[in-house]
Amino acid sequence: MSYRSHYCGVINQEQIDAQVSVAGWVNSYRDHGGVVFVDVRDRSGLVQAVFHPEHAAAHAVGRALRNEDVVRITGKVIPRQASAVNPKLPSGHVEIAVDSAELINKADPVPFLPSGHDLVNEDTRLKYRYLDLRRPEMAEALLVRHRVVKIMRDYCDSHGFLEIETPILYKSTPEGAREFLVPSRMHPGQFYALPQSPQLFKQVLMVGGVDRYMQIARCFRDEDLRADRQPEFTQLDLEMSFVDRDDVIELISGLVVRLWKEILNIDLPAKFLRMPYHEAMSRFGIDRPDMRYGLELKDVTDIAVQTEFGVFRQAVEGGGRVNMIAVPQGAALSRKQLDGLMEEAKKFGAKGLAWIKLGGDAGANAMGGPVAKFIPAEQQKLLRHATGANDGDLLLAVADKQEICWRVLGELRQQLARQLKLIPENVYKFLWVVDFPSFEYDSQTRRYVAKHHPFTAVVDEDVPLLESAPEKVRAKAYDIVLNGIELGGGSIRIHQRDMQSKIFGMLGISPEDAQKKFAFLLDALRFGAPPHGGIALGLDRFIMLMLNRQSIRDVIAFPKTQSGGDLMTEAPGAVEPRQLQELSIASLGKPAGA
Ligand code: AMO
Ligand code: AMP
Repeated sequence: MSYRSHYCGVINQEQIDAQVSVAGWVNSYRDHGGVVFVDVRDRSGLVQAVFHPEHAAAHAVGRALRNEDVVRITGKVIPRQASAVNPKLPSGHVEIAVDSAELINKADPVPFLPSGHDLVNEDTRLKYRYLDLRRPEMAEALLVRHRVVKIMRDYCDSHGFLEIETPILYKSTPEGAREFLVPSRMHPGQFYALPQSPQLFKQVLMVGGVDRYMQIARCFRDEDLRADRQPEFTQLDLEMSFVDRDDVIELISGLVVRLWKEILNIDLPAKFLRMPYHEAMSRFGIDRPDMRYGLELKDVTDIAVQTEFGVFRQAVEGGGRVNMIAVPQGAALSRKQLDGLMEEAKKFGAKGLAWIKLGGDAGANAMGGPVAKFIPAEQQKLLRHATGANDGDLLLAVADKQEICWRVLGELRQQLARQLKLIPENVYKFLWVVDFPSFEYDSQTRRYVAKHHPFTAVVDEDVPLLESAPEKVRAKAYDIVLNGIELGGGSIRIHQRDMQSKIFGMLGISPEDAQKKFAFLLDALRFGAPPHGGIALGLDRFIMLMLNRQSIRDVIAFPKTQSGGDLMTEAPGAVEPRQLQELSIASLGKPAGA
């Protein structure tokens, strides 16, 4: 016997008069004293079943059904009465007149109803994830995720990529994020690490002549979690030989255009905007700018020093800058809202936030607020011109080191856009950020660190600067950004051993250390490494943005909580002392509750 002839969600007028069977869960039931209506749900959707008393056996089954019972019903598809039509459901014009029904598995009362309109708290959803997965939103996310991965594979296949698996048990190479370690039983005192990404394996594959590699790769990073970060997540990871930056950018842009067309039926422009890192920072204060709205930063240092405002002058005398954003119609913000912005600014490291209201109480063409009186008329005019602000607008200024101005105003810009509802809906603004600096100076450890990773090639014409001005060296790196979120990043790699050794040296990795951690890479680069480059896209973030979800947890079947736990299986958990002994390790930590 086959359980069903159709999925619930596909039944519509085309099947009228046909005899069908469906199997699924009771989504809802209504007993109208005589006739019983039951909505049956499976992953495809809902169909309404009607139990009439004349089919006595089926009717008895129908009357006893409760939410989430598993049922199979058989009957004839008939049109609904006009008043009962639900145009929102694909099956909303028809129902199944049940002639036989079987209760396959009775469900206990559930902690929450998958059909409920009010979402229960996330912890409950995660603990009973199987119930949560029955919700249409989750079913949709899993379906879209499947389709996206399939399109990615097909696209890469048609461009000559081979899908190759790389090891999950890898070697600890402390660079970048903190790693998850796995003790080795057979090598007491030694550890594997889970890969943060397949980066070095994919480079070795290029040396191995594979030419084009791709993988839907699981990556592990023990970092602090946020709405767009998980300790294990998935990348579309790929690498290509004999390519330059534009080859990778074009390939990925083409993939994104195809995904948006096939999944969302949206036509994106064939070419995405490109922006050098420095432009992104100076216009938006961040290297992954959200291009859906304006609120751009302006450097008004030259004007600010001509005012009598001590805060501005002192900051500039100390080598700092003054940056401003003009908030359209911002003069209407209340004192309380402005104080809120000031608190936010301080959270991100500002010493204060100067605000100036244009027009309003101060009068047409005038400026108001505590700072305005320190700005002579001439400089007021210049500020209006430089920021493009008019009466009714608000100017927000930060005077500080350039990095702090960017960080604070970059964050405020995003918050203001949300608060003032300046973000248009269903708009997808893709952007390639290019020309990243290769290195960043870490004042804590007093050394340079790689902005992307230590295997990234530098822009050819900047090679001479490696010794004289490392902070000016640009990397052959690129990030793809969508609506303010970094979707992916990659680079052209170093393929010459000498250059790789030199970069390790610059990053404070001694030759001995480099040999210990990366001998295999340095060796591989000696034996005929082709020029190569690639990229990794964060699959979870992709799906989150495509479906307009708030968290990547909503597009992962079994995600972890903010504190890295799995509430369903209760991982992580304590282990038997015997297990630790076998692994030759002892734990200093006490498990909670022990
Ligand atoms: P990167 O570290 O930039 O590059 O990672 C690439 C993309 O992976 C996603 N991502 C994450 N998604 C969810 N949770 C996380 N914790 C998380 N961390 C990163 C982001 C990011 O843009 N090997 C290089 C790629 C390369 O050079 O080819 C790499 O891993 O969307
Ligand atoms: P104060 O001189 O500290 O009383 O500050 C006067 C105004 O300038 C207040 O609104 C402060 O928030 C603001 N302010 C102080 N420091 C800065 C700064 N570094 N950048 C911008 N505004 C500031």
